[in-house]
Amino acid sequence: MNIDHSKASYMFYGVTDEVLSDKTVEIIRSITAIEHIYLAATREIETKLQNLNDEFKYTLDRNPIHQIKTRVKSPQSIIDKLKRKGFDINIESACANLNDIAGIRVICSYIDDIYMIADLLLSQDDIELIRIIDYIKNPKPNGYRSLHLIVTVPVFLSQSTERVKAEIQIRTIAMDFWATLEHDLAYKMSRDAANDISAELKSIADVIANTDLRMQNLHNKVKN
Ligand code: GTP
Ligand code: MG
Repeated sequence: MNIDHSKASYMFYGVTDEVLSDKTVEIIRSITAIEHIYLAATREIETKLQNLNDEFKYTLDRNPIHQIKTRVKSPQSIIDKLKRKGFDINIESACANLNDIAGIRVICSYIDDIYMIADLLLSQDDIELIRIIDYIKNPKPNGYRSLHLIVTVPVFLSQSTERVKAEIQIRTIAMDFWATLEHDLAYKMSRDAANDISAELKSIADVIANTDLRMQNLHNKVKN
């Protein structure tokens, strides 16, 4: 990837030199210079998802996608994650080692919708699958459920076409409810409370998974 670092220097005039080390400023600058490429990747994928959802409004008379959320990881979070995972702290390392600089979260109504949307997206010619992780069939020990796709999508720039990596998390409304609150709680949890709260969270995740199955069954009955 051809990166012009100088373009992002406006962000730092007069502020950072006393506060941040030269190395940190350098990496923030280089991340800022390519942020737009990851933003473009989230847009490309979001548009594909919206197009599918709009089509289903007519063919199925309903929207399988309840909500789409996208985000590009901030320079600070990129640096923190590289540190946490023990990777080199530079832009090449970030692009190579982090799958979720571009993140798309797709909230579906029913479990079957998750797999339908994933299949349709992956069948598109310009989407390349790198890895699929099914935390629905194989939930994490804490109860986390979602279907994760790591893909690349082409982004057309003025001088080149880049294949850009993105992480797509597809889940039901119920799975999203659990994951959102668990994320907040896990962040705030003290070590002492961790065991009790973890057991309760796992139990709630199982109740939610069962509720998703019952909703899916109801939906199957109503549509038939
Ligand atoms: P990170 O978890 O991002 O450090 O990377 P990883 O390579 O371990 O991938 P993993 O599939 O475990 O997680 C990717 C993303 O899924 C995370 O960044 C979260 O957004 C989400 N995720 C994974 N596990 C959990 C979980 O236990 N709780 C919640 N709330 N989200 C999770
Ligand atoms: Mg993880």
